[in-house]
Amino acid sequence: MKNKAYGLLEELGLEKWIKNLQIMGDEVMLDIVSHSPAMHERKKLENALKTTFSQRMPEAKLKLKISIDAQEKPIEIKGKPIDGVKNIIAVASGKGGVGKSTITANLAVSLQKMGFKVGLLDADIYGPSMPTMFDVEDEKPYSITVDGVNKMGPVENYGIKILSIGFFISGNDQAVVWRGPMASKALKQMIWDAHWGELDFLLIDLPPGTGDIHLSIVQQVPVTGAIIVSTPQTVALADVRKGVAMFNMDSINVPVLGLIENMSYFTPEELPENKYYIFGKDGAKNMAEKFKLPLLGEVPLIQSIREASDVGRPAALQDNTAIADIYEKITQNMVESLVERNENLPPTEAVRITTMAGCSSPRKF
Ligand SMILES: Nc1ncnc2c1ncn2[C@@H]1O[C@H](COP(=O)(O)OP(=O)(O)O)[C@@H](O)[C@H]1O
Ligand SMILES: [Mg+2]
Repeated sequence: MKNKAYGLLEELGLEKWIKNLQIMGDEVMLDIVSHSPAMHERKKLENALKTTFSQRMPEAKLKLKISIDAQEKPIEIKGKPIDGVKNIIAVASGKGGVGKSTITANLAVSLQKMGFKVGLLDADIYGPSMPTMFDVEDEKPYSITVDGVNKMGPVENYGIKILSIGFFISGNDQAVVWRGPMASKALKQMIWDAHWGELDFLLIDLPPGTGDIHLSIVQQVPVTGAIIVSTPQTVALADVRKGVAMFNMDSINVPVLGLIENMSYFTPEELPENKYYIFGKDGAKNMAEKFKLPLLGEVPLIQSIREASDVGRPAALQDNTAIADIYEKITQNMVESLVERNENLPPTEAVRITTMAGCSSPRKF
C-alpha cells in the first residue's frame, strides 16, 4: 500500500515534498510540504491529492497534512517583475475629482522625505495631472542605454521619478483622446521600456473608476496593494464599493491597503476650532469599517493644498506644517498596512486575464 501511495505521489511529481508517509490499516497518513504559502496553491494541492487518491486508491482513507516551507515565505514581490522595483502601489478612486492625484503626489513626496526611493507612474488617460503637480510640464523622458538596450529615463523632480501618459501628448494638446489600445501601449512602454532603477515604491495614479486600464495594469505588473481615495460623499462612496470589489475579484486579488478620505471637512482660518463637514461626516470611516479595511487617514479641504498642486510643488514638501504632518501620518499608516500585507500574504503575481468575462460579476458584499 505504501508503495502504491508513493507511486501516485511520484506520478504527481510530489515525491520531493513528502515529509512523512505512513500506512495504518486502511489509512494513508501523508504529511506533505507546499512550496507556496498561497492559500489557493495549498487548496489546489489538497484537491489534486484528494481526487487522485479517491480515484486511484479508493480503498485507502487519506489523512492529509499540508505544511508550508517557512523558508520560502517571500516578503517581496516574487522575481521582482519590474527590475529593481520593490513595491507597486496603485492609487484608485471610484469617482474623478475626489483628489486621487493630489493624494498620490503627496504620498510620493512624503515617502521620499521618509528616505524611500520613489517613482510615480501617471496612468490616468483621462486627465494626467502629474506633469502639472510636479512642475515638469515642459519636460520629456530622456533616452538612456542600459546594458545595450535603449530605455526611457523618467523625468525627475523633488527626488521623485515620474513618467506620465501626459508626456506622450505632444504640445499641450489636451484634445487627444486615448483609445484603449493606444493607452495600453503607452502604459506598457512606461512600465517595461523605462529605466526606473532601484525603487522602494512605484505609485501608480490610476484613472478614476474601474475599467480597461485597471485590468491592463494588473495584468502587466504585480501590484502589491491598492489604496482607494474618496470624499465622504454618498455618491463617491457608492463607487468605492465597486473599486474594492474590483481589487477583491478572485481573478485580480490585489489587497486593498486602505481607504483615504479626502476633503473630509473645512476649517476657515478665522474660525480654527470649527469644522464644516461639507461633503458629509465620517463617510469613508464608516465604509472602511464595513469593508474591514484600514482608514489610512483624513485630509481636510485646505486652500493651500490646491494652490500647491497648481503651482507644481506638492503641499507635503512644506516641512513642519500641519499639512505635511497629515500626509506623513497617512503615509506611515500606508507603510504599516503594507508591511502587514507583505508579512501575511504571498507576493502578488501579475494577473493573467484572458477575457473580460469575469469583470461584470465582482464579488458581492
Ligand atoms: N484636500 C484638498 N484640499 C483642497 N483642494 C484639494 C484637496 N484635494 C484635492 N484638491 C483639489 O481638488 C481638485 C481635484 O483633485 P485631483 O487630485 O485632481 O482629483 P482626481 O485625481 O481624483 O481627479 C484639484 O484642483 C485639487 O487641487
Ligand atoms: Mg487625477
